[in-house]
This record gives sequence, C-alpha cells and structure tokens, in this order.
Amino acid sequence: MMVSFSEMLTAARRQHYAVGSFNVYNYETIRGVVESGRETGTPVIVAFGAGYLPNMEVAEVAGLVRTMGAASPTPVALHLDHCKSFEVIETAVKCGFSSVMYDGSALPFEENMKNTARVVALAHAAGVGVEAELGALARGEHSNEEDASEIYTSPAEARIFVAETKVDALAVSIGTVHGMYKGEPKVDVGVLKTIAAAVDIPLVLHGGSGTPEPIIRACIAEGIAKINVNTEISVNAVEKIRALLATGRSWHLSEISREEVGFVKEVVKKYIALFRPV
Ligand code: 13P
Repeated sequence: MMVSFSEMLTAARRQHYAVGSFNVYNYETIRGVVESGRETGTPVIVAFGAGYLPNMEVAEVAGLVRTMGAASPTPVALHLDHCKSFEVIETAVKCGFSSVMYDGSALPFEENMKNTARVVALAHAAGVGVEAELGALARGEHSNEEDASEIYTSPAEARIFVAETKVDALAVSIGTVHGMYKGEPKVDVGVLKTIAAAVDIPLVLHGGSGTPEPIIRACIAEGIAKINVNTEISVNAVEKIRALLATGRSWHLSEISREEVGFVKEVVKKYIALFRPV
C-alpha cells in the first residue's frame, strides 16, 4: 500500500526506529527496494534523486512505484530526493509522489528558507510532504553527489527554519558523508541532540552508506526517523555483476537484470535490519 510520508515518519519517530530511504535509478533497483519491504514486513521509502533524471522520467518512476506499492501489503512511500528545480518538484507533485526534498542547502539561509516555504505551499496543497536540508554533507568515495564542504547544521537556525517553512522533515548535517567513508566516520550525536530538542519534526540522516551500527543506533535514539542509503546499493551491485561477468559464462541480459534485483536486496535488507527498533 502507498502511505503518506508524514504518517510513516511520525510513527517512526514516536516508536524510535528509522525508515530506510533507498535510492533507485532503474526497474531493478525499484523492485529490489519494494520487495525488500514486503519480504521483511517493513515500511520503505523509494527515493528518486533528481540527479538520475537522465536514467528515468519522473512520471515513469511514479508509474512503476505506485503500481508496485499498491500491490504491496507493507507501506511504501515515493520520495523525490535532492531537487533544486521547482519545475521538477511540480511534476513530481502532479505525478503522485508522496514527498519531495527541496535542496537549498547551498544557498544562503534566508534564500533557502524562502524557497523551501514556496515548495511547502505547493506540495501541501496537494497533500505531498516536504523535506528540506540545512547545513551540508562532505563527499566520500564512490559518490556521484555534487562536491560539498561539510557544514554542520545550526540548531538555532533549524528552530527558525522549521517554524517559518512548516516542512515535514529536516535533513541535518552532523558528520555523515555522501558516499563511502574514506576513514573513520566522525559523527557528532551531541549536535543532533541539540537540534532534536529545538525542533519537533522527524529528522533525516543523509549519507547512510557505510555508517557503523553504533552510530546509526545512537542517531535513531536522538530523533533520526529517516535514513538515506544510495552508494552502497550501487557499489555492491556493480562489484557482484563484475564478478558474474568474470565467470566467462554467456549471460543473457534478462538474467543479469534478475541478479541485480537480488544484489540490491542484500544491501537494502541489511539496512532495514539496522534501522529497526532494538
Ligand atoms: P549515501 O550515498 O552515502 O548512502 O547517501 C545517500 C543519500 O544521502 C541520498 O540522499
């Protein structure tokens, strides 16, 4: 079943677990995420990043996910990840996405706030949830996100931002990176705690790939209700497909496609298990 973004995240924050938001770029990744939710009896967010528009159209993603989600007995939400374009956001809202992320994190605070409020007005009028971001994540290995230098989220700014924009969820920067970590992850749970005390909406952790279990558990305990995972899904599938091709057997593309679904599910199910309540 398709479920609203806010409903999913509010339940998660109340019950101290996080919903996994898994990035998709093709039919195989979408199927891998929806099947992982169904097979584990867990709500999942299928996230389509605006950076993958060369791979799929917004309307195509909506058609596939809404069809698979409607057939699933477990909750599925469809989210537009990292988007700077009002036009793409409008299309996603019209096509039936559950939520959209307006990414104004590279803009000055006031401008981010003004643009986010504009997106909230547009999305809420259609019953669509909105995530915004304050602060910026650094870029790790294998990431294809844009370069960024790390800026931690300011709890004082978060309080004003949430009150003014009425966003449904806020992505925070506390030390995770987009991509695989180059060294030991250094995540400041203390900053998260202060942000969580300043705002009463579900918080979002970007850069889930490679984040160690104790850090994930501490973040969930302090108010993170949604965790994004992208790079590790890609790295695992690419490595395993490379190994299949290296066997020298003559593969049909349809077989590789089915194998890919399985490789996606390995990573998605690993994180679903980590995000559950203990
Ligand atoms: P990773 O690629 O580090 O998992 O981050 C994903 C993400 O934050 C997508 O918005």
